Amino acid sequence: MNASPAPNLRFDLEQVALDLGARSSEFALRWVESCGSTNTELMNCTPEDDGRVHVLVAGQQTAGRGRRGRVWLSWPDSCLTFSALWRFAPGAPVPAGLSLVTGLAVAVALEKLGVEGLQLKWPNDVLIHGQKLAGILVELLPGRGRTPAAVIGIGVNRRLPDDVNIPGQAGGVTDLQRELGHTIPAESLLAALLTELHALFETYAAAGFGALRGAWQQRNAFAGLPVTACGDGSTIYGTCAGVDDDGALLIRTDTGLQRVLSGEISLRLAP
Ligand code: BTN
Repeated sequence: MNASPAPNLRFDLEQVALDLGARSSEFALRWVESCGSTNTELMNCTPEDDGRVHVLVAGQQTAGRGRRGRVWLSWPDSCLTFSALWRFAPGAPVPAGLSLVTGLAVAVALEKLGVEGLQLKWPNDVLIHGQKLAGILVELLPGRGRTPAAVIGIGVNRRLPDDVNIPGQAGGVTDLQRELGHTIPAESLLAALLTELHALFETYAAAGFGALRGAWQQRNAFAGLPVTACGDGSTIYGTCAGVDDDGALLIRTDTGLQRVLSGEISLRLAP
């Protein structure tokens, strides 16, 4: 019986800096072979503000976290898992829309790398044919008048084990290997994601989510479809009518248009 190839846990930070080009001086990149969760690390040990975006990449996470208290499972060399501590100028429109902008940036970066058919499931799951390719966990750092800051955690499935089964993941999961016929080196993927995040966060900080809303809606997986949004003890049935300038989900119901703001909402096709 053939053993699986040994996972490649090496990561070339210099290559990422080269791929980032002139922009590389704006990032402080760090790689660890393994940690619990890159989000938890940055939330608990927040680097000093030196004007750069601090990025922590993990070869493997042993306690990866997802939205709504879920776990994020990954296997060595199967996923790009990283978090970036992003500080925004005082007065920037954080948090409204930040989570959606992050999903949009991931989708656009992947499209530029040749991935087709990407869709966004509110607020920020990145799907292909209803299957999850990337997950995002945005956590705000307590501000109290300081520069607003958020830890942006991203996991992109590069090459999952063949027999992977992720419980609770409606629609299933996919990876770059399956979608492209080959995977993308983790270094190129990280550089592309950071470049796109940087570009879209600039637009967002200057003009708010409204400036990116059209691009988000073009990729809305549920546009015009019957949906159920549940959370906070209530359930809303209706038709997905997109998002507004604050990033709230809009659902057309029998009694009118309802706004869903909470990130703790699950959305699925109505039966
Ligand atoms: C979700 O789909 O529910 C969000 C998944 C977010 C996973 C990423 S992997 C890097 C970062 N560290 C974590 O513990 N979570 C995020």
